[in-house]
Amino acid sequence: MFITRSIVDFKKTRSEWWHQKLTVALVPTMGALHEGHLSLIKTAQTLADCVAVSVFVNPTQFGPNEDFERYPRALEDDLPLLRENKVDAVFLPEVSAIYPPGYKTLVTVQDLGEKLCGVSRPTHFRGVATVVLKLFNLVQPHVAVFGQKDAQQTIIIRRMTRDLNLEVDIVVCPIVREADGLALSSRNRYLNTEERQAATLLYRCLEYAKQAAALGENRASVLLREIRQRIAAEPLARLDYAEIVDLQELSPVELITEEVLLALAVFIGKTRLIDNVLLNPSASRQSRGAGLGCFSTAPSLTASSR
Ligand code: PAJ
Repeated sequence: MFITRSIVDFKKTRSEWWHQKLTVALVPTMGALHEGHLSLIKTAQTLADCVAVSVFVNPTQFGPNEDFERYPRALEDDLPLLRENKVDAVFLPEVSAIYPPGYKTLVTVQDLGEKLCGVSRPTHFRGVATVVLKLFNLVQPHVAVFGQKDAQQTIIIRRMTRDLNLEVDIVVCPIVREADGLALSSRNRYLNTEERQAATLLYRCLEYAKQAAALGENRASVLLREIRQRIAAEPLARLDYAEIVDLQELSPVELITEEVLLALAVFIGKTRLIDNVLLNPSASRQSRGAGLGCFSTAPSLTASSR
């Protein structure tokens, strides 16, 4: 496995792959790897000859009072995991290489970045889009693999890719969960025992909504009212947002007549967790279940980004 912090050295490997006409998949991460990340790597291996994983805790996507300093860094665990999983190259750029002195360029995907998580994290998606575009330029992958866990992120990256005519296919993998439903996240390690138990609340709310929608409840306001009540009833939880939105513009939907995204952000103690599910109208037999858990099979999200 080739490991480097150097942009120059990474580019050398990249050009060797290019000369050998090998296809390349990129899995961008911030490290502290878990089974969710590994599932993306496994998918990437089915899509290209070579898989590159970037590990970079990107300062521009953290707000001033967020957890950039505290965000888990666990290279000593990550590198053996990447090696075991037969990753071809690991790119670990320094902050000063990605954002050298005088750096001034940021990428904004208008409107989409201001909704859902963008309300409480107004500069977050600008940082994500900027670093992902830089990684695409440095790695020049044929395909890049992301998780539905960060559904808004995938929608924004797809839009950026389309808007900027980038030659990279965006593939989205289902959310990997613990046995009790909690979505794996590097931030779960902030939770104490009590909070960890309370954190299953997000999944329970999503499951409730999925079942209610399957049984015919198509009013978003009814589903959201119940979810807000359940969150209010948990002493360790504080709601950031619960919304049901369309998959193109992330605009609120009242009547569920096509596949929509139910997205949640909830503080459990001081830790902000996000989770989501795709909901289908109960009448649409064809689409029912097709996109749940995997954007790449959802008709509305499969279109190539090119
Ligand atoms: P990070 O949070 O490390 O996540 C890296 C990738 O793993 C993302 O595509 C994310 O959606 C996916 N992922 C996280 N938890 C998952 C889970 N439980 N199941 C499946 N996939 C999961 O997302 C980022 O980093 C950053 O914003 C990044 C894209 C690297 C840009 O800095």
